[in-house]
Amino acid sequence: MQIIESVRWSDDGLGVRIIDQRLLPAQFVECDLRTLDAVIDAICTLAVRGAPAIGIAGAMGLVAVLAPHANESRERILARAREIGAAIRATRPTAVNLPWALDRMLRCAERTNGDGEAIVAALRDEATSILDEDRAMCRRIGEYGAPLLRAGARVLTHCNAGALATGGIGTALAPIYVAAVGGNSVEVFVDESRPLLQGSRLTAWELQRAGISITVLTDGMAASLMRERGIDLCIVGADRIAANGDVANKIGTYNLAITARYHGVPFVVAAPSSTLDSATASGAEIVIEQRSALEVTQVGAKRTAPDGVCIYNPAFDVTPAELVTAIITDQGIHRPPYRFS
Ligand code: MRU
Repeated sequence: MQIIESVRWSDDGLGVRIIDQRLLPAQFVECDLRTLDAVIDAICTLAVRGAPAIGIAGAMGLVAVLAPHANESRERILARAREIGAAIRATRPTAVNLPWALDRMLRCAERTNGDGEAIVAALRDEATSILDEDRAMCRRIGEYGAPLLRAGARVLTHCNAGALATGGIGTALAPIYVAAVGGNSVEVFVDESRPLLQGSRLTAWELQRAGISITVLTDGMAASLMRERGIDLCIVGADRIAANGDVANKIGTYNLAITARYHGVPFVVAAPSSTLDSATASGAEIVIEQRSALEVTQVGAKRTAPDGVCIYNPAFDVTPAELVTAIITDQGIHRPPYRFS
């Protein structure tokens, strides 16, 4: 099963090659990010998206933007790295993988001896390690999660937490890919995930391409699906998991968790260790990104709400730990009560 690479080095190694996810599923277009503006725009407009993928793109972007200045002094390069890091960090506030990756890169820069060339070379290796480690963590999440899927299981997911959102085979979709490779053909259902439709545009595209059975529904249909047709398991990704197990993920995840609880459906979260934020005690402290009203009032060129109405558009919500049956990470399957130190 050939899995896509959502973010990697460009052929010349001087840029960040991404799949432009704004254009999927209609068009498959890759582009190389080489400037700070290009990196910032790609993250803010969700050309690259998903917590692990934006962390990786942020780290690689720092290198791509810094590399042309490698001949500068050590002090100048470190100052420039901090400036670029701060600008990339400010793009989206909720996914912890972005500040996690940038902090790691800046620590690497500080501890590297030598001149600008040496620092840029070390940063390139560090960014590549972040990508490789994410790939390995996705694989382990898949291996821990696949046994949770009985033969022919019916699985409901939300948004896209697959290969497009990570450096590897995904988080929530990883057990599904591993199960499929192992001959267990699960049946996947996905909420379209308004307003930007990551479920219907991206998850359906990924799984269809992999030959895995996929059914798309609108977000409001999940309860009816559970009652009328039955779901064995809900599995979603995460943008930030607090020390107490509260989970921030795509808006609509909290709805799904409540619906799953009411119907007695296990609600599982899958995420790499880089998404665990032990410095945040609970979900109440997680900053939720608020996005443009246009995302709600427009579907493509079509206006779907009258001019001038008030719009509520948080990009994420927080599911309280008590609604989370289990959390799968690259370290194993965690059960309540959660305490991530
Ligand atoms: O706004 P997005 O598309 O970046 O939101 C993505 C999600 O909420 C994902 O579920 C989460 O980042 C996990 S990705 C493995």
